[in-house]
Amino acid sequence: MSEKLIYIKSYGCQMNVYDSNRIKDLFLDKGYKITTDVSEANLTVLNTCHIREKAVEKVYSDIGRIKKIKNNKKDMKLIVAGCVAQAEGNEIKKRSPDVDFVVGPQSYHKLPDMIKNIEPSINSEFLQNEKFKNLVYNASHGSSEFLSIQEGCDKFCSFCVVPYTRGPEFSRPIDEIIEETKKYAANGVKEIILLGQNVNAYHGTSQDGKSRDLSYLMSKIEEIEEVKRIRYMTSHPLDMKDSLIKAHADNTKLMPFLHLPIQSGSNKVLKKMNRKHTVDDYLKIVDKIRNVRPDIAMSSDFIVGFPNETDKDFEDTMRFIQKVKFVIAYSFIYSPRPGTPAQHKDNIEILVKKARLTALQSLLNEQQYEYNKTFLNTTMEVLFEKVGRHENQFVGRTIYNQSTFTNSKQKLLNQVLNVKITNSTNYSLECQI
Ligand code: SAH
Ligand code: SF4
Ligand code: F3S
Repeated sequence: MSEKLIYIKSYGCQMNVYDSNRIKDLFLDKGYKITTDVSEANLTVLNTCHIREKAVEKVYSDIGRIKKIKNNKKDMKLIVAGCVAQAEGNEIKKRSPDVDFVVGPQSYHKLPDMIKNIEPSINSEFLQNEKFKNLVYNASHGSSEFLSIQEGCDKFCSFCVVPYTRGPEFSRPIDEIIEETKKYAANGVKEIILLGQNVNAYHGTSQDGKSRDLSYLMSKIEEIEEVKRIRYMTSHPLDMKDSLIKAHADNTKLMPFLHLPIQSGSNKVLKKMNRKHTVDDYLKIVDKIRNVRPDIAMSSDFIVGFPNETDKDFEDTMRFIQKVKFVIAYSFIYSPRPGTPAQHKDNIEILVKKARLTALQSLLNEQQYEYNKTFLNTTMEVLFEKVGRHENQFVGRTIYNQSTFTNSKQKLLNQVLNVKITNSTNYSLECQI
């Protein structure tokens, strides 16, 4: 019998990357091989994202493209997984009859049985921890590994689909996470990036039945010798407990980087977004964390053009950014999403939205440029994670999560080294060993 090949494309956030890795592992375990050429695949998996309209459009255009390949190749099955699958399950099959299977983010462990037709071809159950008990865990590459520890969200921000696509919030037990971490560590992984849509709301149980928070979990991971670096994302300001702030002082392996989305610098807009925190609450967190870790690198997410956002609201956001100073941040034009409370309120002209996005991004770029420049001629600790595009080029990350590259005849992969920074731009640093 000829070889079975699987092609997987991941859209959206890091949690989807983690899920795609698990889907790969499930099928590698069943004797499949990975292909990067969709035209030779027997199984094609699109692990989709529903967060903004553009992300969804991309999925449907990819389905159209794959449909043509599939029509010339009778033995390909097309699977739509992820958040679009969860949100639009039945519609996908109606709209695109070429899709064979549809599976949501909490039930994809059933895929092998779905393909054998032992399970129905659409599955959008929220099975929570049952998924994790039925997955396969192999490290995907050498240095850094994503690890989902918490899923779902109960916060219901008025713009956001995540509570509907990922389901109610839940945390995995401590032991399972430690076991998974040890497996990756034994495979040579040096950095663990703990993931959750609300990762700092983590409250998993330990063996003694006690509920434990993120700082406790990270102190257990710190004890694992081979793990050199710990990161976590994405956090919510409401769950930024003192124990977690303290971990930034105490945990020797926790990196000094905090991705903490605020979305807007206007209290009026935050209220309409149902964020349940104010700008001041956020600034207090920044103060507290800079108190214990003065060099912490701050990162955030912003939405511009939220319904009824005025010029004044936007200026408040710009002033807020000037005050905090971010080393990196992600910004998006508001996209009305089906089923969310803000869906029908979209009322800011697209030209205004675009102008605000441009202004905001140029301020963020400027801050990033200035920040990176401060490291010129200094020595920094870097974990080299991958080979670059050029020969003998290696790419790594500083403790502040900046991307760094260098040329070297020596193999640098998977090493933590002290390097000298020789050049800087707004998006990366160049270094010498
Ligand atoms: N759980 C994280 C973020 C999840 S989504 C949090 O609570 O912050 C990632 C980012 O996408 C969000 O921070 C937000 O900035 C953006 N986003 C979410 N819904 C959006 C929408 N409808 N339009 C534009 N951007 C959106
Ligand atoms: Fe979405 Fe808000 Fe939940 Fe983040 S906290 S996932 S933005 S609903
Ligand atoms: Fe997208 Fe789902 Fe992640 S909507 S951002 S893939 S949780």
